[in-house]
Amino acid sequence: MKRVYNFSAGPSMLPLPVLEQAAAEMTDVRGSGQSAMEMSHRSGDFKPIIENTEALLRSLMGIPANYRVLFLQGGASLQFSMIPLNLAGTEAGAPKKKASYVETGIWAKKAAEEGAKYVDICVRASSKDRLYTYIPSPPAANPEDAYYHITLNNTIVGTRWTELPQTGPVPLVADISSAILSEPLEVSRFGVLYAGAQKNLGPAGTTVVIIREDLIGKAPSWTPLLLRYDIHAQEASLYNTPPCYGIYIIGLVLEWLKDLGGVPAIAELNRQKAALFYGYLEQSRLFRSPVEPAFRSLMNITFVPRMAESGERANLERRFIQEAAAQGLVNLAGHRLVGGMRASLYNAMPLEGVKALIRFMEDFEKKERGGVRVSHTNHE
Ligand SMILES: Cc1ncc(COP(=O)(O)O)c(C=O)c1O
Repeated sequence: MKRVYNFSAGPSMLPLPVLEQAAAEMTDVRGSGQSAMEMSHRSGDFKPIIENTEALLRSLMGIPANYRVLFLQGGASLQFSMIPLNLAGTEAGAPKKKASYVETGIWAKKAAEEGAKYVDICVRASSKDRLYTYIPSPPAANPEDAYYHITLNNTIVGTRWTELPQTGPVPLVADISSAILSEPLEVSRFGVLYAGAQKNLGPAGTTVVIIREDLIGKAPSWTPLLLRYDIHAQEASLYNTPPCYGIYIIGLVLEWLKDLGGVPAIAELNRQKAALFYGYLEQSRLFRSPVEPAFRSLMNITFVPRMAESGERANLERRFIQEAAAQGLVNLAGHRLVGGMRASLYNAMPLEGVKALIRFMEDFEKKERGGVRVSHTNHE
């Protein structure tokens, strides 16, 4: 069997035991005589699957009883529309409500742009001035806001919030697509949390929304049915056919995480993996992190060559990505909008994978430094 270390930002690696269990159960899930792809979503066979997935998520994240968990489709991007529509949408002709956004990256910007179609949004702070390499200090919420939106982990540049903004009674809404289950999170600090599954949860196609009950049921009458949280909540995510197979795999991933010791245990491992990799970058004379140390992501670690000349840099990046792939270290190219390199170290990336990448980088660096001249600029 060939397995690579896949450093993709998503879809990304799933734990091998999960894939093996899914393979073993492919034709017969728990004595049902069917795969999880073939079951009616309203059958007695699927009911325990979705209920178990929700129960595991509730217990691993410590989700309080007054929050609903919804399994939806449309990716995190659809939440960029559902959040403003459901939390602050207004009837035709009525003045728009207000909401605050903090722009910490390209996804945060997209969320704000989509929100602006339905709501009078205010971008309260932005880190665009330094290419999103830090988290700006956020102003407190405006009491008139219907909600306050942040992106907890910024997948593209590789930053993360370490302190939440003070929003008082204004519901804090967070995109946790690339952060979910990577570290403990106090769910009760938030009104809504949402995440596409394809990083720490399972296959693409399922979106998890965790929403405080009192925020459900505020959508204006013209809201398309499938975009209404109240419809999905009333029907326990079964208003229409949910992404059944994705929900099944998420359940297996959550079982795996529970057996490992849950979020505290994986958070410890994640800190260890990130510390090892950032530690390597700090002493490397060839590569550096472009992100301010206080805001460095544990999940998505970006790095760039230290040399100043852009042609030389692009050349080195290309060689690096190709040679790494040849060694089974794949998907290390940075996001197409920012370039450079990125290693995503989600929950399923084993410590061994990080060590293998560092070993490769050390060898690559030795080889480069033996041949090509490397400048030692540490700024930029
Ligand atoms: C933080 C964040 N938000 C939103 C998205 C968009 O997610 P989707 O493709 O599920 O719509 C991504 C995708 O990588 C992301 O990393």
